[in-house]
Amino acid sequence: MYRMECNVVGTLISGKIDCGDLKFKLLQNKDKPVIMNLTIGSIDNQHLINSSSFVIGTTIKGAIDDLDLVVETLKECGFQRNRFYIHCDGALFGVMLPFLKKVPQITFKKPIDSVSVSGHKFMGCPLPCGVQMVRIEHIDGMLSKNIEYIASRDATITGSRNGHAPIFLWYSLSIKGYKWFEKEVQKCVNNAHYLKERFKKGGVSVMLNELSNIVVFERPQDDGFIRHWQLACEGNIAHVTVMPNVTLEILDCFMDELVAKRSMWFKDRGKQPPCAASQIGEENCVCPLHKC
Ligand SMILES: Cc1ncc(COP(=O)(O)O)c(C=O)c1O
Repeated sequence: MYRMECNVVGTLISGKIDCGDLKFKLLQNKDKPVIMNLTIGSIDNQHLINSSSFVIGTTIKGAIDDLDLVVETLKECGFQRNRFYIHCDGALFGVMLPFLKKVPQITFKKPIDSVSVSGHKFMGCPLPCGVQMVRIEHIDGMLSKNIEYIASRDATITGSRNGHAPIFLWYSLSIKGYKWFEKEVQKCVNNAHYLKERFKKGGVSVMLNELSNIVVFERPQDDGFIRHWQLACEGNIAHVTVMPNVTLEILDCFMDELVAKRSMWFKDRGKQPPCAASQIGEENCVCPLHKC
């Protein structure tokens, strides 16, 4: 939207931003201010750094970027507070994170500038919506203007927003309550760990970030199976996002079908499970080359 030129910053196998590469790119762009988008439990965090330096994450592995290490890296590279902007993209996991124990803190007590979460994912709002919290100084100018045709102050790009969305968000929070969120978040993370163990027992390459409900595994070899289970795939991996509706029975049914299908796909000696080491690490890959 801003027509900024971007450079891609690499990721670690876990999917987190690679702060070594970030440092390298920051030093190459020292003369420009930085806009960064960190991903909070996203699906594969690939980061772009703009020529006025801009970093964006995308999703696949459910990794939470290390905010403290990013801030330290910015400092090490000589970026003062007034020369960087950090947005924390919390989409799905940003809503879940506060309900887990011993997790990284995403807070305005740290030098971040904005945080966003989706309303139509974990909160279950029936239309796409979200919440964006921004330090007041970044939107002060916009808020001082009255938008004529709504006779109100507004900081959106279009001067227009959905009035139903806050009602759905409020309703979801009120009807479910804190205890529901705490219980369901824990259930999703536990079920994700259960699924990981089932993959391991089934001899399937698998990776799960400790604080995540997204299980990454070997890409199934049959498009029909992928379509049936609506799996998002990338290269040699696919992932399952374990949401509150995903019960142990569903996971068992999925695994039983996968195990049965795999024995057919790899029946002939010539056909082997794909190698996923470059995407999930050698230690998680059980292709013939990496199987111990
Ligand atoms: C990290 C991240 N950002 C943004 C999005 C998109 O969010 P929304 O649907 O609220 O636009 C996703 C979707 O999964 C995501 O994982």
